Amino acid sequence: EQIEKGGYDHFMLKEIYEQPSVIKDTYRGRLLADKGIIKLGGLEEYIPKFINADRIIIVACGTSWHAGLVAEYIFEDLARIPVEVEYASEFRYRNPIITENDVVIAISQSGETADTLAAIKLAKEKGAFVYGICNVVGSTISRETHSGTYTHAGPEIGVASTKAFTTQITVLTMIALKLAQVKGTISKSDYMMHLRELDMIPTHVAAALKSNDKIEEIAAVFKNATNFLYLGRGYNFPVALEGALKLKEISYIHAEGYPAAEMKHGPIALIDEHMPVVVIAINSNHYGKVVSNIEEIKARKGKIIAVVTEGDTVVRELADYVMEVPKTPESLTPLVTTIPLQLLSYHIAVMLNKNVDQPRNLAKSVTVE
Ligand code: G6P
Repeated sequence: EQIEKGGYDHFMLKEIYEQPSVIKDTYRGRLLADKGIIKLGGLEEYIPKFINADRIIIVACGTSWHAGLVAEYIFEDLARIPVEVEYASEFRYRNPIITENDVVIAISQSGETADTLAAIKLAKEKGAFVYGICNVVGSTISRETHSGTYTHAGPEIGVASTKAFTTQITVLTMIALKLAQVKGTISKSDYMMHLRELDMIPTHVAAALKSNDKIEEIAAVFKNATNFLYLGRGYNFPVALEGALKLKEISYIHAEGYPAAEMKHGPIALIDEHMPVVVIAINSNHYGKVVSNIEEIKARKGKIIAVVTEGDTVVRELADYVMEVPKTPESLTPLVTTIPLQLLSYHIAVMLNKNVDQPRNLAKSVTVE
């Protein structure tokens, strides 16, 4: 097992560090940035189905559901296709309205999650076209879907999902860009820029990983907190949810993810000097508004741990601690902002002596209801 961990203390840490290379594996041969080409074997012949769909319904569970939420932003923003993201477990029992004009995307690392499998069976019965995004080759969901794309992240052993999440987002981003290009909802120059920037993501993720020592220090400061709040907006709202989930899963500290603007409708009541608030405050359309949220938290003595864009000065002044990530277009930021949050939860769990790779009560793949 020590050999399999490749010199890392835990599979989770190894898998976090694998992300620059597995993201590259995910788009290798599929993204030719200089030539402006995205080619996904499973997608090509079904592009008209996606483009003419009334809507895309994404079904998934856990971390894969968070990847679906990121996809909602990118599909609607770039490809202008309406998207709904559903917990598979709710969708399957809701007597959902599904028609032959819907495209259902099922996202699953394992390809074996019982609820997701049941949701796609239901969608198929109702005549929808079902596309799978799985990591495990030959898994049940990959066989039950009409077509799909593998993430090629390699085996993920840590129960808390890390590299599966970023590679799922990589695939979903490629699909959205391809559809946007064919549909003409993205300009040529914007399309080319996105491809070049996507090709830079492994380098950016490697740069984000360099903050590891600093993040370990931040973890030491906050490891005894009993609650955490995670805030983000737009593309980074799902990242806040995922950051909170990671912390809950492996450290057993209660954490909640929230859209930053919703803070005033509830979570702000919880803020006092004992409450660390992780705020994703990168350069984006929402930057000014997120800065205001940080000021509101500070006024109530909450402790701010901010994820910022390299070179940021405003948030750096306000926050108690910052974790830097490289600059990238807003639509690609989840791929980099996720990294420091994975490391933060990892280090807190290690410091609390928790079983990082096999947290209590959780399973890697939930094959029963
Ligand atoms: C379990 C795992 C999570 C995972 C979820 C969905 O809860 O512990 O890490 O996100 O199942 O799994 P899937 O294999 O369908 O992505």
